[in-house]
Amino acid sequence: MTTLELSDLLAAAVKARDRAYAPYSHFAVGAAVRAPDGRVFTGANAENASLGLSMCAERVAIYHALSEGVRQFEAVGVAGPDGMLAMPCGACRQVLHEFGPGMQVVFDGGGGLRAVPLQSLLPEAFVGETLEAFSADGVTGREAR
Ligand code: THU
Repeated sequence: MTTLELSDLLAAAVKARDRAYAPYSHFAVGAAVRAPDGRVFTGANAENASLGLSMCAERVAIYHALSEGVRQFEAVGVAGPDGMLAMPCGACRQVLHEFGPGMQVVFDGGGGLRAVPLQSLLPEAFVGETLEAFSADGVTGREAR
């Protein structure tokens, strides 16, 4: 992806941030994921009075895309409050990896646009192939316990 495309993706995340529902933390986050065909899907964090039910912007964006039939991504832009570095949390890294292990993560924590490979943020990820190898051995999860 070009720098312009990365910067457009981050701009989409900044715009999506306006739709955050964050009355408890007041930490609004926007995210935008880009499919290989250039389509962009956005999301914002959605909190809940039962705090553990809150959902991060990155996962909202991924699930938004999945619900539109898109399952592969080449980049994600993440925008927290202006000037704040808001990196994807561990749970989001794992979900992003499921649908784009080679994707770039784009953000601006105040020092300008930066893009890093998701793989550098989640090395040696747990992957579906492990479960496939497990069931190929003829062992089900229940029997193994
Ligand atoms: N949050 C995100 O949306 N993405 C992240 O990767 C980190 C945290 C949200 C969750 C919660 O609504 C607020 O930021 C404070 O944790």
